[in-house]
Amino acid sequence: MSVENHHDRRVHEEEGKRPTLEVRDLNIEFSRRRVWTSVVHDVSLKVMPGEIVGVIGESGSGKTLSALAALRLLPKQARVAKGSVMLGDVDVLAQSDKAMRDLRGNRMALIPQDAMQSLNPTMRVGLQVAEPISLHRGTPLKSVAAAAVKLLETVGITLPELRARAFPHQFSGGMQQRAMIAMGLALAPDLLIADEPTTALDVTVQAQVLKLLRDIRDASGTSILFITHDLGVVAELCDWVYVMRHGRIVEQGSVARIFTDPRQDYTQMLLAATPSLHSPLTKEAI
Ligand SMILES: Nc1ncnc2c1ncn2[C@@H]1O[C@H](COP(=O)(O)OP(=O)(O)OP(=O)(O)O)[C@@H](O)[C@H]1O
Ligand SMILES: [Mg+2]
Repeated sequence: MSVENHHDRRVHEEEGKRPTLEVRDLNIEFSRRRVWTSVVHDVSLKVMPGEIVGVIGESGSGKTLSALAALRLLPKQARVAKGSVMLGDVDVLAQSDKAMRDLRGNRMALIPQDAMQSLNPTMRVGLQVAEPISLHRGTPLKSVAAAAVKLLETVGITLPELRARAFPHQFSGGMQQRAMIAMGLALAPDLLIADEPTTALDVTVQAQVLKLLRDIRDASGTSILFITHDLGVVAELCDWVYVMRHGRIVEQGSVARIFTDPRQDYTQMLLAATPSLHSPLTKEAI
């Protein structure tokens, strides 16, 4: 199995490949009672083409804000104080709002944590999944119905013609998350940003969704930035991982290196707190 070598960052770098996403020295401030406080400090990270990159860290460490900044979706109380975000050759922070709407979906898409909350309960799943195509092309929703069925099929939903006509509440949690992934894939973006997309799912369904994401990467070369607080998920899915704490990246490395030779106390503590990972064979065994 050469999957790991295939996505070895050093190989990409030697070949001079441009990252799909490169965040440099990102500083994010939050406003509390009209006082701006720094919450993300000098975060630099990148995702190479076809790479699955994990961002791991405890609650409040700045994972979500960093990802939202890359998508230019920060909440109103937050702002980028410093830094740059490059999506391929596009300077994200310099884009107009209109250009950003075009980039989102088209070049990068967000898969949110809670699919049920993100789906519109009154709209048939197929139409929702294909809505980005219709919006992007300016064509009626009806005309992209076939594309919706194809997308549902891609994410492993059985009887896709039938399911396309269903409403979200008729889907299980795992199917709803698959539908969100299908929507993210609608415009074939270079980058998927997934913020804890499997937290709400039970372990078996979670494993299926992770496999789906890896299959998508293998089939289409989509880069994935995967945010989680679960080191087990990182072991299963990711090629490279950034460890965040208190708004900073404290360690980064290939998943193999982080698991065999964690250098920071904090990373060692995370590993120690994940008992199932103590065997160095874990990654091979999956
Ligand atoms: N709505 C908010 N109001 C005030 N401060 C906030 C708010 N959201 C985030 N912050 C600040 O930003 C920091 C980073 O938050 P962020 O949501 O990025 O963390 P996270 O790593 O995604 O955590 P989690 O694992 O819980 O999702 C928090 O510790 C907090 O200080
Ligand atoms: Mg978060």
